[in-house]
Amino acid sequence: MKKIIVLTSGGDAPGMNAAIRAVVRSGHFYGLKVYGCQLGFQGLVEKKIFPLEPESVANCIQHGGTILQTGRYLNFLQKDVRTQCLDFLHSEKIDGIVVIGGNGSFKGASLLSSEGGPAIIGIPGTIDNDIPGTEYTIGFDTARNTALHAIDKIRDTASSHNRLFLVEVMGRSSGFLAVDVGLAGGAEFILTPEFPFTMPELASKIMKPRREKLSSIIVIAEADEPGRSIQMAKELDELTGLQYRVCILGHTQRGGSPTLLDRKVALSMGNLAVKGLIEGKSHKMTAIVRDELMLVDIPDPDHGSRVLLNKYLLELNDVLCS
Ligand code: F6P
Repeated sequence: MKKIIVLTSGGDAPGMNAAIRAVVRSGHFYGLKVYGCQLGFQGLVEKKIFPLEPESVANCIQHGGTILQTGRYLNFLQKDVRTQCLDFLHSEKIDGIVVIGGNGSFKGASLLSSEGGPAIIGIPGTIDNDIPGTEYTIGFDTARNTALHAIDKIRDTASSHNRLFLVEVMGRSSGFLAVDVGLAGGAEFILTPEFPFTMPELASKIMKPRREKLSSIIVIAEADEPGRSIQMAKELDELTGLQYRVCILGHTQRGGSPTLLDRKVALSMGNLAVKGLIEGKSHKMTAIVRDELMLVDIPDPDHGSRVLLNKYLLELNDVLCS
């Protein structure tokens, strides 16, 4: 293992810069040449690689986003595109790639490696916390805190006006963000893709007599339809006769300075990824399993078992908001 590339792929997540920093600094410490690749797999195809020195990653640990830039490059799923990329990697004598990203990114990386490409180690980076094989993904903590701060602010205005708010959080088909944010933000109801309920069910829960409280916050996971809270508000309007305000937190959840937890996990994962490559490992992902940092097989997003959402937290929320 002499030359490695680090790239970020898929949606950005706070803490990715800390992971890049750890890969670059660890790589140099262990005697490797480290290259960065701009814009994820697209950059690999377009040959946008450049040397990264230890000083190249100074002053980035506290910033959100990714200094390498990123993208969702679906063309990489085409074999001829990967072949083009393999030729380039062979000509540059690249031995290993560290891919920081989510499920889709690992799929592309695995295909490349099994077709004769360099060794691959993935670092899970997504605010959704939805990658099979790990209990934690970089960016999740920052995103949930960003969303929590937003809910605290919404609550000020909600209680001043006695209003009902639907707050939609990201997370794709996973409800991790919604549950943590809803519970910690004191939301009366939390809707997740894992434990769905119908609009009439939700309406009757809302109408159930509760404490003398006229304002409410309902946290909704976006599921497969970002923006769905607007339609839901209309339906709830009709079913309950109450008026709802909607706030879609959207991409605000992806930005901002990473929390201590995200930086710490990212730094440890970056170091472990480099050590794994030096030890000759490939097709692995850095993971947190039962609170321990380790390398696991790169997950197959179509078959891997995902860490399940803890239903207990939803039940706890029902008790606390009764
Ligand atoms: O996967 C991270 C994520 O932020 C999801 O929560 C969200 O559904 C999606 O990315 C949005 O993707 P894009 O930034 O490409 O619109």
